[in-house]
Amino acid sequence: MSFITWKDSFSVGIHSINDQHKKLVEMINNLYTEFYNGITDEFLKILISDLEKYAVYHFSYEEKFMKLYNYKDFKAHESEHQKFVEEIKNYKEIVSVKNKTAVIDLATYLKNWLFKHIMGTDKKYSKLFQEKGMN
Ligand SMILES: [Fe+2]
Ligand SMILES: [Fe+2]
Repeated sequence: MSFITWKDSFSVGIHSINDQHKKLVEMINNLYTEFYNGITDEFLKILISDLEKYAVYHFSYEEKFMKLYNYKDFKAHESEHQKFVEEIKNYKEIVSVKNKTAVIDLATYLKNWLFKHIMGTDKKYSKLFQEKGMN
């Protein structure tokens, strides 16, 4: 069983962005699966740094189009992205096999953030991006 199951209701209506969101879901699910299969510090380290890198790539992709299309809530959206990256950096310092509570906190944070940000914040740019021809 997956930690997060992708649903059509997660869609922001733009293929490239949905694919990136799916990749983030997959990474979070990997963390969850490995955690229950006996996670190692090495795996945690790699997974979190990959997640951080991919999130930075994904955020800059969204921000590029928000800027291009003069999206009105750009600043607030950008600050949610920055906050996420800071949180991941903080978790990177504390998660370890010995600190299982921190790993559970991280997984919960990621899941909640994903729902709140994709379903809330990201969906707000859908209409504008689609009007500009993205699909
Ligand atoms: Fe976003
Ligand atoms: Fe996003």
